[in-house]
Amino acid sequence: MYRKNYPNLFSPITIGNVTLKNRISASPTSNPALNMNTYMTKDVASFYEMRAIGGAAVVTIGESIVHTRTGCNSNYRLLLDDPNVIPSLSDFSRTIKQHDCIPSIELAHAGKFANVPNSLRPAGSGQIPYGPVHEITPDGYEIFEMNEDLIAEVAEAYGKAAGVVKFCGFEMLLVHAGHGWLLGQFMSPLYNRRSDRFGGSLENRMRFPLMVLDSIRARVGPGFPVEFRFSGEEFVAGGITIDEGVEIARMVEDKVDLLHVSAGLHEQPGANVITHTSTFVPQGRNVYLAETVKKAVKKPVACIGGLIDPAMMEEIIASGRADVVAMARSLIADPFLPRKAQEGRAEEIVKCIRCYVCMDTLRGTRNMRCALNPLIGREFEHKFLPSPGPAKKVLVAGGGPAGMEAALTAAKRGHEVILCEASDQLGGQTVSEQHIPFKKDLYDFGQQRARQLEEAGVEVRLNTPATRGLAERLKPGVIIAALGAESIIPDIPGIDGENVLFLKDLRTGHSGFGDSVVILGGGLVGCELAIHLNRQGKKVTVIEMTDDWARDAPKLHKDAMDVELRKGVTIRLNTRGLAITDRGLVCEGGDKQPELVEADTVFCAVGMRSRSSEHLRDLAPIFKIVGDGRVPRQMFEATSGGYWAAVDL
Ligand SMILES: Cc1cc2nc3c(=O)[nH]c(=O)nc-3n(C[C@H](O)[C@H](O)[C@H](O)COP(=O)(O)O)c2cc1C
Repeated sequence: MYRKNYPNLFSPITIGNVTLKNRISASPTSNPALNMNTYMTKDVASFYEMRAIGGAAVVTIGESIVHTRTGCNSNYRLLLDDPNVIPSLSDFSRTIKQHDCIPSIELAHAGKFANVPNSLRPAGSGQIPYGPVHEITPDGYEIFEMNEDLIAEVAEAYGKAAGVVKFCGFEMLLVHAGHGWLLGQFMSPLYNRRSDRFGGSLENRMRFPLMVLDSIRARVGPGFPVEFRFSGEEFVAGGITIDEGVEIARMVEDKVDLLHVSAGLHEQPGANVITHTSTFVPQGRNVYLAETVKKAVKKPVACIGGLIDPAMMEEIIASGRADVVAMARSLIADPFLPRKAQEGRAEEIVKCIRCYVCMDTLRGTRNMRCALNPLIGREFEHKFLPSPGPAKKVLVAGGGPAGMEAALTAAKRGHEVILCEASDQLGGQTVSEQHIPFKKDLYDFGQQRARQLEEAGVEVRLNTPATRGLAERLKPGVIIAALGAESIIPDIPGIDGENVLFLKDLRTGHSGFGDSVVILGGGLVGCELAIHLNRQGKKVTVIEMTDDWARDAPKLHKDAMDVELRKGVTIRLNTRGLAITDRGLVCEGGDKQPELVEADTVFCAVGMRSRSSEHLRDLAPIFKIVGDGRVPRQMFEATSGGYWAAVDL
């Protein structure tokens, strides 16, 4: 017998008539880059397949619509009432099963959020939107009340869809009754204000979801594992509370095989950042909801929300707080998390930083990306990566995220790599994040990469600026310039005062800040720092010259920041910094009158400028610029730019 890592996490469990090889379930993630023909493509399948190869016991396709006419809120959903979906779905289930993994799929209906225009369906669908009650939305759309015939028709559609996915080879399915979609709308006292037998008491509000479960069971038969996802608490005034969450679990328990206790509501920003917990709250913040439910039921319970660390997952299973740990973003940052944990390589796991880039890109262009994982959205291509060209001597100039990613990838692909870093530490701007608790995961990522460079055999030279002379001496075949960016210094009086700090000053800590701080520049960097300093009890004012703050933040991160900023930070928009004195920042707002905002310290965060790498351009046959040295942008561009630059060698 060998010594098992995380023995509880990697113990099997029987759900219905299947046995999960471990306790890790890849929870539904909407299908990235699904074509508008809405059939499963090899691209999308490869995204999920990576999770199966990575060792999850179950992989669940995201929202798939059971009743297209009334239930679809996006042009990019699998439509389970379209018979043409069958070939690609059956091919998909085969793909997942190939990797000793259970294919599952989420049956969904968007209810009152279907058929009205939104970012994923700008023109709407031309069909009538239906919800639990008749209403006019704040945007002016009329939602019609579902009558009993339609309720019965949709319940039947759930059953038919279940039959289709079973026919396609799925071995499990998940009913989405949380986050404020149709079934959740009926269950929630916030949305369901009906006075008939489908509204009012919890028993009445549960009538429709129970009809759905009966309809599904009638089609899939006994034993077929049905997972029921619901919000244990909605975290909105008037919504479901955990006491009702427990009752809901009790009411469905006999009809389902796994109770999946999620949280929050999608269309309510403050609650949505609890569904998808932000970096401002501890990992595993919502586990207590599953734990509370578990005490009241006999069926297995899954928990979810910011589960990143396998040690925490092990503790959850070992202590019996939940039976299954479900996760979405951790398996985007690193689909191989389960395997690495099981194989004793936990320190290699790339840990999700909960930055919301995945959700933001999915909502925006539909091309999902990850700040840390350059393969997200490229899983299919990854199978056919070109073999490395002849081994080359590669000089990487700069040891920030882009340079480290390039160096690591090049070394793994057999090239001889020398990385020169001008400072005494690898990590670039991530080094400054170590002093901000809610950014520490990013710092850890940088340090993890630094360790991996050593293991991969990269020759790292610290305190070594990449000069022309150095490059001439080394005679590399390739130079990858990753020199990063530096703070823009605004040309205003007092900018060189002793009370003025810049990003570079944060590398060694935050001791330079006084009790009151003015942050000049309300972008992502400035606003995150404001949250941190406010948490430390300082009086913080953010001065932003445009009419919005943190424009460069992913939408959900901005929502989460909003919650935090409201705890005491003052933001002044449309306000320009004119001068810095020893008493603070002189500003000019809409009334054009100069005004002093008093502060002990002025932090300058007005933007970044790329460092030039032109001095290295002609010193090797292949020359590339990556990361902020190309254009100052976000983490995704750094990791992805570094990775693909090295793959192409
Ligand atoms: C990119 C992305 C897409 C998602 N799509 C779905 C979906 O289609 N259906 C669903 O029920 N939840 C969806 N979720 C929510 C996740 O299943 C999960 O509940 C949430 O992300 C919290 O878990 P995590 O902290 O492990 O990411 C999505 C989450 C992400 C990050």
